Amino acid sequence: MIERSSSRAFRPEPIDRAVLAAIFGDAQRAPSWCNVQPWRVCVTEGAKTKSLAEAMIAAAKSGLPHAEVPFPLDYPPPYKQHRQACGIALYQNMGIAKGDGEGRYAAWLRNYGFFDAPHVAIVACDRRLGPYAYLDVGVWLGYVLAACAERGIATCPMASVAAYPEALRAHLPIAETDVILFGLALGHADPDAPANRTRTTREPLDANVSFCS
Ligand SMILES: Cc1cc2nc3c(=O)[nH]c(=O)nc-3n(C[C@H](O)[C@H](O)[C@H](O)COP(=O)(O)O)c2cc1C
Repeated sequence: MIERSSSRAFRPEPIDRAVLAAIFGDAQRAPSWCNVQPWRVCVTEGAKTKSLAEAMIAAAKSGLPHAEVPFPLDYPPPYKQHRQACGIALYQNMGIAKGDGEGRYAAWLRNYGFFDAPHVAIVACDRRLGPYAYLDVGVWLGYVLAACAERGIATCPMASVAAYPEALRAHLPIAETDVILFGLALGHADPDAPANRTRTTREPLDANVSFCS
């Protein structure tokens, strides 16, 4: 399997339209229930990324989060520990101490500038199909991540940006019948950025998979 990890610092150089089209073209092969293909995606290019980032940063600074698909309110064990471990790994690499509220706020706000990526894909799903269609979009995301990794394109999926749907809807043609699920920052990773040294761990196989005979 191709190595990948989330990048949280990007270089400004854009990805050629032909490469973007090839990545999302590959992901069109993703399977979905009854082949409904419910992913609805806007990919920003050029000045649109910057103007959307400005609007999202303003929304995040001033508004309360209210995602169209509710975020988890609580993470029971073992999810809480996994969540904490990935936060600790990121903040340690970035040199942000535990009690550094300002540093944490600045790091959180970088989500809304898409970590300076030249492109963000805002991913929605037709709400009339119900939650099973979200599963199809998750499978599609896996295809996109693999298609990017194959080409050396860096990515970071971001549920965070779904917390401010009005700003996204004001700037992008997102249908009323669609529900916003997440964003995906795309670009070339900044190899010198400490955040990009972050690597997360995974549980051993038997924590997630049982062979039943
Ligand atoms: C649906 C989804 C939403 C995510 N949302 C965010 C986010 O809002 N901000 C962020 O920094 N990372 C986000 N991530 C990245 C995860 O934190 C990351 O995938 C996880 O910690 C595993 O690390 P890895 O991607 O480097 O393997 C998201 C990942 C997924 C799949």
